[in-house]
Amino acid sequence: MTQKRMLTGDRPTGKLHLGHYVGTLANRIKYQHEFESFFIIADLHMLTTKNLPEHIAEVDKNAKHLVLDAISAGIEPDNVTFYLQSAIPEIHEMFTLLQNLVTVPRLERLPSLKDMARDANIEMPYGLLGYPVLQSADILCVRSHLVPVGKDNIAHVEITREIARRFNHLYGEVFPIPEGMVGEVPTLVGTDGQAKMSKSLNNAIFLSDSPEEVRRKVKTMYTDPNRIHADVPGTVEGNPVFIYHDAFNPNKAEVDDLKARYRQGTVGDVEVKEKLTIAINNFLDPMRERRAHYEQSGVIEDIIWRGTQIVREETKQTLYEMRKAMGLSGVWNRIRRKAENYQKKQVKSDPA
Ligand code: TRP
Repeated sequence: MTQKRMLTGDRPTGKLHLGHYVGTLANRIKYQHEFESFFIIADLHMLTTKNLPEHIAEVDKNAKHLVLDAISAGIEPDNVTFYLQSAIPEIHEMFTLLQNLVTVPRLERLPSLKDMARDANIEMPYGLLGYPVLQSADILCVRSHLVPVGKDNIAHVEITREIARRFNHLYGEVFPIPEGMVGEVPTLVGTDGQAKMSKSLNNAIFLSDSPEEVRRKVKTMYTDPNRIHADVPGTVEGNPVFIYHDAFNPNKAEVDDLKARYRQGTVGDVEVKEKLTIAINNFLDPMRERRAHYEQSGVIEDIIWRGTQIVREETKQTLYEMRKAMGLSGVWNRIRRKAENYQKKQVKSDPA
């Protein structure tokens, strides 16, 4: 049996941060060898909320960030195929065929789409309503089995499963039913204590931040607001600095000691934060080294462009099988045969 496949990816809207890492990137790294892996740079999805010329002009820079962040974090470019969604026109044809396998009310009920429209300050565009259907085309074009995503994308994988089942039921087995997967820490709090780390909330530590940027951001981090002095007992639960210690400090003994002293009021925020800065920088240092190696001009673009050609061929094959299963290619063949017969007859009866 051939290897099972994983497909995942992001919109090219910025750099990846620690929240992306624990939410999905860690899974992507973990499963890259077990699965034949594909990473989409979803610029058509970006257009559903950001379609101004200045947004589009940033796609190549942001695509490079995404790939560089993934490779720096441990994705091996020899194992994983990266590709640019908009450069594969067959994706849109798949999207068109899949659109009829899901209802408008089903899509209208998704909170993720309403949230995206609200965050972008726009009324729901037609394309945004179709976002999960386009995502289904991405997942199904390589006939993926596993889809590691952030928590807010799980509902889209669920739509994909419904669409794939419906297609197989109506026309015959073409697609495996893909599984979604979320990380161990599905959402990481921001440095400001807000529920979610996010570039737009300005509370993110990026994988590409320098050691000094990490130090500065950790210094301003939100802790227990009721603790005005280092000798006041503090709360560890739900405290961002300790959530980050748990996620990024591998020295469990040190973390346990800090927590115990924090609860007793015998450690200051300064020490807790200093140790967190060191832990996060230790976590990011190997990424910084790999980034420096890959940052040279053209390598990343070469990775993206070669991958795009590979996925385009895959998508053509999938579309061929879809059209065949649906009977569309049968229609084409019958019409073509009749047209050819007609043309032959015309030539015979009209020997000019
Ligand atoms: N929706 C994802 C995001 O929020 C990007 C994406 C597009 C994607 N197509 C996908 C993720 C297919 C996983 C699988 O940025």
